[in-house]
Amino acid sequence: MLVAAAGCGGTRSDGPPATNDVGPSSTPADAGDPVVVAGAALYTKYCALCHGPAGAGYAADNAPSLVSRTFLESADDGFLARSIELGRPGTAMAAYGKDLRGPLGDGDIKAIVAFLRAKGDVATPIAAPAPLPGDPNRGKELYTTLCETCHGNPAQRQNAVHLANPTFLALASDGFLRYAIVFGRPGTPMEAFANRLDGNQVADVIAYVRSWSQPARPETPPPPAPAPDGPVVINPRGKNPSFTARDNRFVPSAQIAAALAKKQRLVIIDARPPSDFVREHIPGSISVPHYDTSSLDRVPRDAVVIAYCACPHHASGVVVDELLKRGHTKAYVLDEGILHWHRQGFPIVAADGSVPPAPPPHSAHDHAHHGHQH
Ligand code: HEC
Ligand code: HEC
Repeated sequence: MLVAAAGCGGTRSDGPPATNDVGPSSTPADAGDPVVVAGAALYTKYCALCHGPAGAGYAADNAPSLVSRTFLESADDGFLARSIELGRPGTAMAAYGKDLRGPLGDGDIKAIVAFLRAKGDVATPIAAPAPLPGDPNRGKELYTTLCETCHGNPAQRQNAVHLANPTFLALASDGFLRYAIVFGRPGTPMEAFANRLDGNQVADVIAYVRSWSQPARPETPPPPAPAPDGPVVINPRGKNPSFTARDNRFVPSAQIAAALAKKQRLVIIDARPPSDFVREHIPGSISVPHYDTSSLDRVPRDAVVIAYCACPHHASGVVVDELLKRGHTKAYVLDEGILHWHRQGFPIVAADGSVPPAPPPHSAHDHAHHGHQH
């Protein structure tokens, strides 16, 4: 299996059943509230691609449910808003806040939070009690046995929310973690561990997960947003590359890197929100987020075009489909996504202080946190 597929994929077929839609999905309690209506429209435009039309998750990239009862009971509005604003760097979850060059202002984010609360029918969170202090060494053994196959380790995300993500750990309280472990996320693969772990063991696992927290870094302002009218074609005087595409759609990273090295003529499109683009992108690529493809008019029809996203096919696939609709015949998806591209050491333009994606699993085996059950 491709390295980049770990933690990606996750369409309906391998996620939890569609019945995961928690709450009254067609008639939320205050569906008519104008804030909720505005939030629904924003959600559909920016979020449904991965989190699904009703917020139940697993439409793409293994995005979790945002409306499961235990999630909304334990996540306060601050956790929700900050998760949307800051994203989870190194995963498919981009930063959507304007300050980080995302598309959403504070009011937009508040509206989406109101929409999610209405959708899940949980108006206010429960103040979840924090566990007593635990022992990270005992917790490590429990985590490695019971949790790692789904949640990965600091070096590698697996299919479930990456608990080692520094932004996640900075936002999640111990009470939030405890609530998820004890009560699970009904309707998803996250079971309730209440019967398998006693209170001390839950505290031990949390102490171990906490041991991954990183000290806050000094904030560096993000680089300027990409120019909407910069050059589109890379190497305009070069020859068009001829790629061998799987299913006439997916081109492996190595072929694209080779075309760049040979100074061939192509257009490369970053389909993620601009916040991800300014953090890191392929040199010469242009930013055309999957939710706003109007600027595709600038892409010449005789050019070979590659679109990429994080994880690795969905947002890029939206852009490629849009190009095909516009009469392009040589539009392809970068097969493994940019996280894999970056890990392979192919050329990247990265902002100062941006966090590189976690290394691939083979080096994860050497990682101190990997545990020793194998
Ligand atoms: C390209 C796919 C994608 C899109 C689009 C996307 N997300 Fe996410 N989102 C994810 C993934 C994947 C995660 C889990 C990140 C991880 O830890 O690996 C996530 C996590 C989250 C979380 C944290 C959930 C938790 O359980 O901790 C929230 C809240 C969230 N997303 C809200 C949104 C909202 C609101 C939007 C639209 C503005 C959005 N997402 C758009 C993929 C996406
Ligand atoms: C079979 C796979 C699986 C196993 C095993 C598993 N989890 Fe989960 N876990 C998940 C999934 C999937 C989610 C997200 C569910 C959703 O969509 O809301 C989740 C959610 C969570 C969350 C909430 C994260 C958030 O931001 O919402 C925590 C905390 C968590 N799990 C901790 C653990 C711990 C600790 C263990 C081991 C004791 C464990 N999990 C075992 C699959 C698993």
